[in-house]
Amino acid sequence: MVTIHLNGTAYQVDENSEESLMAQLKAQGAEIIAACNGAGICQTCAVRVKSDGPAPMGELTPMNETEELMSLPDGQRLSCQCNAKTDCDLELMY
Ligand code: FES
Repeated sequence: MVTIHLNGTAYQVDENSEESLMAQLKAQGAEIIAACNGAGICQTCAVRVKSDGPAPMGELTPMNETEELMSLPDGQRLSCQCNAKTDCDLELMY
């Protein structure tokens, strides 16, 4: 398990889960809009990685094809398309 700080609230997620980061956070009550319910279309699940460490974004699994097609701004990820690898600090964009 790893600890995710999302807008200042701590959540525990399973870094080995088949479920997305978004699904795991919502299951614990995180208020993520997720208008497309994880289809990778709406971007309302976008998070900004607040880390400024030596490997920014390295706390999350690599981008999949769906995320790469979305051309997100630097530092942003779709929480429905990734999972956490290590503890990290995230901010919801919507
Ligand atoms: S929930 Fe719509 S893109 Fe993630």
